[in-house]
Amino acid sequence: MASWRRVVFGLILVLCFSGESIVSMAAIKAAYWPSWTNSYRPPSSIDTNYFTHLYYAFLEMDPLTFKLRISPNESVLLSEFTAGIKQRDPRVKTLVSIGGGGSNSTAFALMASSKPSRKIFIDSTVEVARKFGLHGLDLDWEFPANPNEMASLAKLFFEWRGAIEAEAYSSRRPRLLLTAAVYFSPKFFLSDTPRSYPSKAIKYHLDWVNAMCFDYRGSWDTSKTGAHAALYDPKSNISTSYGIDAWVRSGVPQSKLVMGLPLYGRTWKLKDPNVHGIGAPAVGVGPGDTGVLTYTEVVQFKSANNGTVVYDRTTVSTYLYAGDSWVGYDDAQSTVGKIRFAITRHIRGYFFWAVSYDQDWEISRQASEAWGHH
Ligand SMILES: *[C@@H]1O[C@H](CO)[C@@H](O)[C@H](O)[C@H]1NC(C)=O
Ligand SMILES: *[C@@H]1O[C@H](CO)[C@@H](O)[C@H](O)[C@H]1NC(C)=O
Ligand SMILES: *[C@@H]1O[C@H](CO)[C@@H](O)[C@H](O)[C@H]1NC(C)=O
Ligand SMILES: *[C@@H]1O[C@H](CO)[C@@H](O)[C@H](O)[C@H]1NC(C)=O
Repeated sequence: MASWRRVVFGLILVLCFSGESIVSMAAIKAAYWPSWTNSYRPPSSIDTNYFTHLYYAFLEMDPLTFKLRISPNESVLLSEFTAGIKQRDPRVKTLVSIGGGGSNSTAFALMASSKPSRKIFIDSTVEVARKFGLHGLDLDWEFPANPNEMASLAKLFFEWRGAIEAEAYSSRRPRLLLTAAVYFSPKFFLSDTPRSYPSKAIKYHLDWVNAMCFDYRGSWDTSKTGAHAALYDPKSNISTSYGIDAWVRSGVPQSKLVMGLPLYGRTWKLKDPNVHGIGAPAVGVGPGDTGVLTYTEVVQFKSANNGTVVYDRTTVSTYLYAGDSWVGYDDAQSTVGKIRFAITRHIRGYFFWAVSYDQDWEISRQASEAWGHH
């Protein structure tokens, strides 16, 4: 008994003396805020209770100068973002995400290909982060196109981390956070140009990566319905469980992996309204601009059309159908199912795309509760 107590006491001592790493292991409950949703979801209306980190999406890099380009309107929005969140809860960290799905990936490749252009970019990002009172920087380069560009990305991460360490030292301020939004898997195994993220550079230089575990199916294949963010897929490796496990195998520590969760659905038009499972024949996209509905719109669509909601255990996803319309999405139940998976994998947390799309904070709240204090 006595030796057992000594072991426990020893463990407690070890935990106390490694205090810093415990603090840095705190769960991440993040979300991106698309600045174009400001008209209905201004930053001051974000319920900060459910988040630890909020990302402003997006700032663009000028493809000629490699500096961040901020219009007067964006400058106002960015200030409102940091001020609005700070006012609601100063503990919540704000970051700015650079790039995004619609950004110029050639320009990122060019910037990352040489040391002088990397430096111009890096210095510009640090200056912007400090000017607007942000806590960190995020790169959403979609996507490095080949192994060469992945090697440039590794150099960029190395020099960027060096720059923010140096800046923190000289300014005597807490170091800026550095994160990246990445593909759901560390390898682009579906592409004609196979390539992998630089997992060592991620491990040593980034605080964490946000794996975009969604958009597996969509308007680019209208032949059949699909769970666009399936946790499991018995027939393929295109799933969140595969992606997260592959990231862990790649050597990125679990403490630096954050799982993406969609607050939107993807829609199809059914070929036969009576055949409405996952993988049912379809003839086009369903409701929503380019076949996308925010979670709020899914809820509205369901009540306006008396839709039938089905939870699918196999994929851990939710879908609804009404007439010939079909929507694959995540509700609170499938979101919580994915969070339980993430907890079993001991990863750091989750993020939503996007904070503005929730319905009365329903999913944000239940996700936060499900994660608890893991
Ligand atoms: C900037 O904001 C003003 C006021 O909201 C608006 O009238 C104007 O169209 C915006 N400019 C751009 C380029 O979006
Ligand atoms: C994208 O970036 C490249 C390289 O900087 C540039 O040549 C091209 O004009 C840019 N394209 C657009 C649409 O801005
Ligand atoms: C999934 O990936 C593993 C290796 O990571 C491979 O062995 C397996 O064949 C793949 N499965 C499918 C269905 O492609
Ligand atoms: C809604 O659908 C259910 C079956 O899913 C049906 O029993 C009910 O009558 C429908 N209600 C309306 C108002 O159409």
